[in-house]
Amino acid sequence: MKVVTTIAELRKILAALPKPLGLVPTMGYLHEGHLSLVRRARGECVSVVVSIFVNPTQFGENEDLSAYPRDLDRDFDLLGAEGADLVWTPTQEEIYPVGYQTWVTVENLSQMLEGHHRPGHFRGVTTVVAKLFNATQPDKAYFGQKDAQQAVVIRRMTEDLNFPLEVVVCPTLREPDGLAMSSRNTYLDPKQRQAATVVYRSLAAAVQAFETGERDAEVLRNRMSEVLSTEPLAEPQYVSVANPETLEELNGSVERSLFSMAVYVGKTRLIDNVVVGD
Ligand code: PAF
Repeated sequence: MKVVTTIAELRKILAALPKPLGLVPTMGYLHEGHLSLVRRARGECVSVVVSIFVNPTQFGENEDLSAYPRDLDRDFDLLGAEGADLVWTPTQEEIYPVGYQTWVTVENLSQMLEGHHRPGHFRGVTTVVAKLFNATQPDKAYFGQKDAQQAVVIRRMTEDLNFPLEVVVCPTLREPDGLAMSSRNTYLDPKQRQAATVVYRSLAAAVQAFETGERDAEVLRNRMSEVLSTEPLAEPQYVSVANPETLEELNGSVERSLFSMAVYVGKTRLIDNVVVGD
């Protein structure tokens, strides 16, 4: 496995790697969820490149950029064991050189759900992902369903900007108690970690209601909120039943829909989702 930093080095090595090429974009501090993307890429592509870049432009002013967990040596060991061919760890200057002023924005989808609470977040995501796509020119790029809106926004950008690649969205990986895997879970102390299970329990309660015939969007949202309210350490920011493609909030009777939420447990903001009616 080779590790490179600059775009020049990256391009030189990519030129010699056989196609199809799979790209797994990450911010590092890898967990099983990331590794499942690498495995999927390994199974579908001849060569696999993983980028590790904690992208400053997708963090808000009061968010955890400086505290974001990092452990590159551990990441390299894990990626080596998964058979990644190449790891790209650009510096901030490589991605955003002095004088940088070009942004990629997916207008409407970026304003919904998470975008409402994290202004500018998706502009940072789409800008960096467009740059990762340009630099690596993959045939397929792998993202997790855990960040459901990110996947929708990136698909739109890929189509709108005619990137010649397939966006592959892989299932959310969960801990045995249901908590969706996330690098941010490491911020939780033991009490908070236990409390965090309420997020998946509330989604599961709404899924169960849906599966037993409940179709009213408001009742389904209330079901999630009710379960969340049983956990004193959990502070919901939003609870949503939305159209999985347009991300618009739904009212009345629903069929295929995205149940999603953002919940603070202490200072840690957890997001999770499920799609029902597939
Ligand atoms: O999902 C992530 O880890 C990031 O948002 C991504 C796609 C690597 C862009 O920085």
